[in-house]
Amino acid sequence: MNSRRSFLSFAAALPAFAKPAAKSGPIINDLEAKLARKDFRNISLDDLPTPAMVLDLDAFDYNLKKMADHCKRTGIDLRGHVKIHKSPEVSKRQVALGAIGVCCATIAECELMVNHGIKGVLFTCQPTGMNKIKRVAALSKHEPTFMTAVDDPIIARQLQEAAAAAGTRVNVVVDVYAGLVRQGCPPGNFALKLAQQVDSSKNLKLMGLMAYSGMASHTKTFEKRKQRSQEDLAGMLETHEMCKKSGLPVAIKTGGSTGTYNIDVGSLTELQAGSYIFMDTLYIHVGGQGDDAVYHDFKPALTVLSTVVSKQRDGLASIDAGNKAMLKPTDAVKGRPDVTIDNQGAEYGLLKWKDGDRDYKVGDKVEIYPSNLDTSTNVYDRYYVAKNDQIVDVWPIMDRAGAPQR
Ligand SMILES: Cc1ncc(COP(=O)(O)O)c(C=O)c1O
Repeated sequence: MNSRRSFLSFAAALPAFAKPAAKSGPIINDLEAKLARKDFRNISLDDLPTPAMVLDLDAFDYNLKKMADHCKRTGIDLRGHVKIHKSPEVSKRQVALGAIGVCCATIAECELMVNHGIKGVLFTCQPTGMNKIKRVAALSKHEPTFMTAVDDPIIARQLQEAAAAAGTRVNVVVDVYAGLVRQGCPPGNFALKLAQQVDSSKNLKLMGLMAYSGMASHTKTFEKRKQRSQEDLAGMLETHEMCKKSGLPVAIKTGGSTGTYNIDVGSLTELQAGSYIFMDTLYIHVGGQGDDAVYHDFKPALTVLSTVVSKQRDGLASIDAGNKAMLKPTDAVKGRPDVTIDNQGAEYGLLKWKDGDRDYKVGDKVEIYPSNLDTSTNVYDRYYVAKNDQIVDVWPIMDRAGAPQR
């Protein structure tokens, strides 16, 4: 059946009140029409379809500025990680405050950022398979500041061949193991040899070393985190000395995270921290300097807005954020630390509480701090940017914000 005919038969089955007017095309609700015109007047949290991602602009701006000030003060560069937010709007704001570029975890994120004019994009997962390798060569040709990580001599050779075929040069950082078994070549002689291979490849340019100490980032308490990060970066630092002695150009030492941003200053030339812009509940509990329980350095700025859809029992309410909204028992309700969260299926979550004086009622809005930013933001199309409870902008995620999500 062709799509026009299948739409018409679908429309014929609708009740009269929902039928689109003869020539009007698909139904666009009033809110979407206003958002499409960038007319944000009189749109509040209450008007949004739920579940929806809401960005608290004041808290977000605070986090951006705090990290930018830290980098200026200490002399470390910022190349913040995009995997957390997937939004060019966020990256542009980081760059405006002094960031030298961004890091990306997927080739599609790299292309998104380059297409939005972001310079200094670093692909932190080495490209594997001809699809990604050719796209890395194409990106390098299009944007000479683009860089990729590599931890394997096979990939370095394939990249050299693809870059030569494309008539371009690919900037490379050698990814050295830093405590996270998923990535990074052995430090010392292996990494040195790989750096030499890259340096002597005609169509590759050695830029430095990468070492992502991902086990340190969420280590609880500041002192233990510091110790872990120092241990995990030692191999890269030793390799860096070896490379310098061999006369290799290794100006860049890139790595680090939100958890170690103020720990890695002497060891790295640049920080890949990402989560600091929004924060999530897993990070909030890693503890900071002067408080082993709570990490206060950055403010929680992102919530999933949901609605109470059923309230039939004491101390229990169902909300419309469930598995599809990436709801987790480790999430937290904004303003209600006494409330616990449970999953109830694809479209349902459950709130539980004991304080009978603070009951929820059906239709109430509930804001939830996610546990892990990467997996939550990945399933949404847009950020509703809010000042207090007024919407002031909408930012697409991965350029997907064309249609309303709910
Ligand atoms: C390679 C790499 N660098 C940096 C980061 C940023 O870490 P965070 O979000 O903890 O600041 C990540 C996050 O997982 C990562 O995978």
